[in-house]
Amino acid sequence: MSESQRKPQPVTGLPRGIALLRDPLLNKGTAFTEVERDVLGLRGLLPPRVFSLEEQLARVLEAYRRKVDDLERYIYLVSLQDRNETLFYRLVTDHLEEMMPIVYTPTVGMACQLYGHLFRRARGLHITYDDRGSVAEVLRNWPHDDQRVIVVTDGERILGLGDQGTGGMGIPIGKLALYTACAGIAPERCLPVMLDVGTDNEALLADPLYMGLRRRRVRGEPFQELVGEFMTAAAQLWPGVLVQFEDFASSTAFHLLEHWRDRACTFNDDIQGTAAVVLGGLFSALRVTGKQLLEQKVLFLGAGEAGTGIADLIAAAMVDEGATLAEARARCWFFDVNGLVVKGRASILPHNRRYAHEHPPIHQFLAAVEALQPTAIIGASTVPKLFDERVITAMSRLNQRPIIFALSNPTSRSECSAEEAYTWSNGRAIFASGSPFAPFTYHGKTFAPGQGNNGYIFPGVGLGVIASRARRVTDRMFARAARTLADQTGQADLDVGRIYPSLTRIREVSAHIAVSVAEVAFQDGLAGIARPPDLQELVASTMWAPRYASYVT
Ligand code: NAI
Repeated sequence: MSESQRKPQPVTGLPRGIALLRDPLLNKGTAFTEVERDVLGLRGLLPPRVFSLEEQLARVLEAYRRKVDDLERYIYLVSLQDRNETLFYRLVTDHLEEMMPIVYTPTVGMACQLYGHLFRRARGLHITYDDRGSVAEVLRNWPHDDQRVIVVTDGERILGLGDQGTGGMGIPIGKLALYTACAGIAPERCLPVMLDVGTDNEALLADPLYMGLRRRRVRGEPFQELVGEFMTAAAQLWPGVLVQFEDFASSTAFHLLEHWRDRACTFNDDIQGTAAVVLGGLFSALRVTGKQLLEQKVLFLGAGEAGTGIADLIAAAMVDEGATLAEARARCWFFDVNGLVVKGRASILPHNRRYAHEHPPIHQFLAAVEALQPTAIIGASTVPKLFDERVITAMSRLNQRPIIFALSNPTSRSECSAEEAYTWSNGRAIFASGSPFAPFTYHGKTFAPGQGNNGYIFPGVGLGVIASRARRVTDRMFARAARTLADQTGQADLDVGRIYPSLTRIREVSAHIAVSVAEVAFQDGLAGIARPPDLQELVASTMWAPRYASYVT
């Protein structure tokens, strides 16, 4: 039989009919061609007209924009992801600026809080304390092999919203969606994991629709053992898999990071990812002020995971520029719920000790600003409005261009709004926030402030780690990623007060970051493959794009 007479054949291994339509990784919905409908048993299961991906996009965008609030938009996107991942990722990638706040912070926070009430279809793996001893078996139930990235949480500190128990699952799902949308990690290589060890959230425990273990949190040794069992089983099943720890409570997060960073391919995004985003923003801000990193004095409001991670990376970058570690740390100060963190103060947490300097106690943040005269204040306190008019006025008196980062999420927890920062500083603040703020016009100048979104860093770092098959994730990789992020910020961005590149360029930015991270992996002997001649090519060939494949040969 000649080639032209041969009957089209389905690609081997594909499910047929309804099973194909119900597989979100393979489903093309109305975009199945006539031939595919014939050979894959789809005839009659779809409305007759065949649509292109572009036409489908127009339909889902219209449906998305018809939704009346963010939660409805979130639910729509999740259900699209459950139906057709290619279409979902094409939609989100094409409209990232619009949809990132829905897929991730701030809307995902609301979705976590309402998890048991919104639940439609399970996604990811739920590993509970009751599974101890058989975690490997649970992992083997996951239907895809060759997992490359796991995002895992125990739900104890979801964004700035505290303990959300099993509802925290929304976070790994959202984060992994960003891995795919921002850096092209193939969706079937991404695994969201919820380690459910109970919750101490009374409202959840009393909620009849709560879906997690109905018990108080397991802590201490038994908790660490469960994490250990999970980490060991994951690495055995998928050697080299990258495990990102996400939204654990501060003390747990620091402990896990210290324990696992030299034993597995792992990092903590709240600590290291945040730090790199903020350091990248600081590098960009210095392009505006014309000052050096070593001239900065940074006062943090909030001495938890985020703040401490940022200070550690800033200190490492200062050391890179010639300071001693002691000099670098002396330029970072912390103010927490008990006041200025100073030497000799009672109640200093272990991770804060290295930043407890000699100083009389101060109990008001404004007084700390006046006494220390920082060039930058960074809010990571989870408490809204603590950067009030007096604080920002003082910063503007002390600095020609005060650097003001209000990072607490979601928007309702931000230490100040963009409008407040620009108004109270007479338009001089270099402002970035953790959650997005709409552009704001002040005295005829429109500011489009940057969101210190972790999405700028972790997808690119993950891509670099995966592409180079790195065995470990190091601070040097994050510091290099921060530099690359700042290099990718253009003058046009800085001109509108944005210290980060536009999200419309995120895939390109992530690819640049991945190249710099892979470079470090090869330089430091951490890569699991031989160095290819062209790292850009290596990274590009690792990236998945949301396009339909043909299912017939
Ligand atoms: P955390 O719970 O570990 O730390 C909070 C810190 O704030 C503690 O040191 C606490 O003492 C302090 N604090 C609480 N109330 C205070 C008050 N009234 N005055 C002064 N200090 C106070 O939280 P974590 O993980 O450090 O996160 C903090 C915030 O940063 C969260 O809202 C989180 O959403 C946000 N964040 C933002 C990121 C970004 O913009 N890229 C990334 C990670 C976190």
